[in-house]
Amino acid sequence: MCALAKSPDLSIEDIKAKIAGDIGRDIFFYNTVSSTNTIAAELAEKCAEGVVVLADSQEKGRGRLGRFWISPAGVNIYISIITKPEIDPKDATLITIMTAVGCAIGLRRATGLDVKIKWPNDLMVSDRKLGGILTEMKTAPERIIFAILGIGINVNVDIDSFPDDVRETATSIKIETGASYSRTEIIVEILNEIDRWYRILKEMGRETILSEWQRLTSTLGREVKVTVGKETFSGFAESIDDEGRLILRLPSGVLKRISAGDLTILR
Ligand code: BTN
Repeated sequence: MCALAKSPDLSIEDIKAKIAGDIGRDIFFYNTVSSTNTIAAELAEKCAEGVVVLADSQEKGRGRLGRFWISPAGVNIYISIITKPEIDPKDATLITIMTAVGCAIGLRRATGLDVKIKWPNDLMVSDRKLGGILTEMKTAPERIIFAILGIGINVNVDIDSFPDDVRETATSIKIETGASYSRTEIIVEILNEIDRWYRILKEMGRETILSEWQRLTSTLGREVKVTVGKETFSGFAESIDDEGRLILRLPSGVLKRISAGDLTILR
């Protein structure tokens, strides 16, 4: 571990000075790690909730559905937050939903961009992916032992740095605004906003979280295609239910609830 971040746009001291709540009071910074989620899961066994793992680069960054998360040094944000919510594991989806809400609002405030959430938890600008969330948990039969909120945001990465297969679908704050941004300022906004929404989660403000997610999403009211394992469903994205499942109206009129999958907006 390293006490100080060396990049001019990333200062752990400045982040800590601007943290308003419990999340981010303690930050473990690394120049490079395999995955911040892996480090955070190890730390979670002995650390209090609210501890944050931050890295300048990742060698084995993980995305959803077993994908690799491209994590070059000096340009982006890779953070994992340790939480220990005392909620029923069946409500676990709400953790990711509230994280997406906190990230979207924090990013909007820091950049002015019209950041939207694509179900279940992609952070989008102009229908391109700016960031993503990977929640990983350790559970006991009736409780969550810990949940790691892993967040990756493309900040100052240039379009040429993206591999060919994601160049059409990914973006960064710099690509969208034409300007370089301070990672410190963005991290502060995101952590403070997640702290606020995490308090709402712990007070079981389910309705507040779900209605804010609905306000920020680009998914509902659109024709979409969702791949779940080897199956693909096309239909109209009507709503999400109170467990965060997508309610899809199939062409037959049947409503299908989907817990997890890969969604493409068709129109
Ligand atoms: C997605 O596929 O959309 C989720 C991407 C999550 C990436 C972040 S970067 C920080 C944390 N560490 C990881 O290995 N993954 C998450």
